[in-house]
Amino acid sequence: MRNHGENLLFSLLLFSPLLALSSVPPHSCDPSNPTTKTYTFCKTTLPIAKRVDDLISRMTLEEKISQLGDDSPAIPRLGIPVFKWWTEALHGLAYGGTGSIHWSFSAIFKATSFPQVIVTGASFNPHLWYKIAQAISTEARGIFNNGQLDGLTLWGPNVNLYRDPRWGRGHETPGEDPLHLSKYATMYVRGLQGDSYEGGQAKALKTSACCKHFTAYDLEKWETASRFTFDAVVTAQDMEDTFQPPFKSCVQDGHASCLMCPFNRINGVAPCGDHNFLTKLAKEQWGLDGYIASDCDAIGVMVGMYARTPENATALALKAGMDVDCGTHLQKHSASALGKKMITEEDIDRALRNQFAVRMRLGLFDALPEFRFTASQHQRVRVPQLNRDAEREKCARGLLNRVVRPTDIS
Ligand SMILES: *[C@@H]1O[C@H](CO)[C@@H](O)[C@H](O)[C@H]1NC(C)=O
Repeated sequence: MRNHGENLLFSLLLFSPLLALSSVPPHSCDPSNPTTKTYTFCKTTLPIAKRVDDLISRMTLEEKISQLGDDSPAIPRLGIPVFKWWTEALHGLAYGGTGSIHWSFSAIFKATSFPQVIVTGASFNPHLWYKIAQAISTEARGIFNNGQLDGLTLWGPNVNLYRDPRWGRGHETPGEDPLHLSKYATMYVRGLQGDSYEGGQAKALKTSACCKHFTAYDLEKWETASRFTFDAVVTAQDMEDTFQPPFKSCVQDGHASCLMCPFNRINGVAPCGDHNFLTKLAKEQWGLDGYIASDCDAIGVMVGMYARTPENATALALKAGMDVDCGTHLQKHSASALGKKMITEEDIDRALRNQFAVRMRLGLFDALPEFRFTASQHQRVRVPQLNRDAEREKCARGLLNRVVRPTDIS
């Protein structure tokens, strides 16, 4: 469907031959920059951990703190561009947060919207889930290569269980069965991250997948209850049998490079501020290789309810093992938390190590010619055909909801 804005855009394109249709994707370690050669963090032959340590050792405290939110500003001194962590990709690339995708005045102005997850989930077809995620990550690389995306960290899949329709977001999930969700999570993450269907891991991340919302998050707003204050009371057995398997599969079978902690509390404890949960369980026991993001403003909303002061919330999150604050809370309050000795610079460095390791695994510090995922690769994907397949599966099972038109992005 072409809307008014796009018609306007078309006219502008016709009559503005100077309008740039594409630009260079944001990247670091440009070989045409003479200082690049001196940076250890630009040496692609070294292990990522070494490169990350070198990069962090060059950053000032102020620069470090600036990187703690989802909208991470450029550090021109080191040749580092803006990075936006928040891009939605539940069933197609979509707008998120401070706008990681630039649709207007650009060559590509839409992405494929696949059917809602609840219906593709009902196909019970892991190949379809994998192929949809694979197409989404290819579109993301195509849009990125065209200079229209400021990030490659996609915040999907949503693998919270659909148990209670009052949640209102059940359509974002594949269903209510833990085993089914685990399978979906694994295949979707493999497709997004560029791994093989069977689980063979690619050398680099095609895009980074994020399983959310970790965990027991299935209440948004119902009468007087709100996700910001809701305390999910969950028994240890239900946790193990019901809520955790999809996240464990995400990490262990899918090798997801991100988990997102939610707003709600679990048995009185805020997961985004829980060291046992984020560090001991997800990172150490399950072996999460990546970063933990907070849901958007989940750190800020702790204040007054769960943490006494803004610095208390900052300390809780960083000490727990949260690495990217979706929001601005840590960017605003980390300096004063440091001043009050409630956190250390090492807490910040830990978060940055996890962040920059993912950015490097995405190839964003490998200079332009090294990019493994080219725009032409993006064009070879038969996305409209795939979306028709997805539609057919959905219709064949009598699960019609809104008809999503197959659309190409170019
Ligand atoms: C807030 O931080 C202070 C200073 O570190 C600490 O004494 C207090 O226990 C914290 N309170 C909460 C609720 O986090």
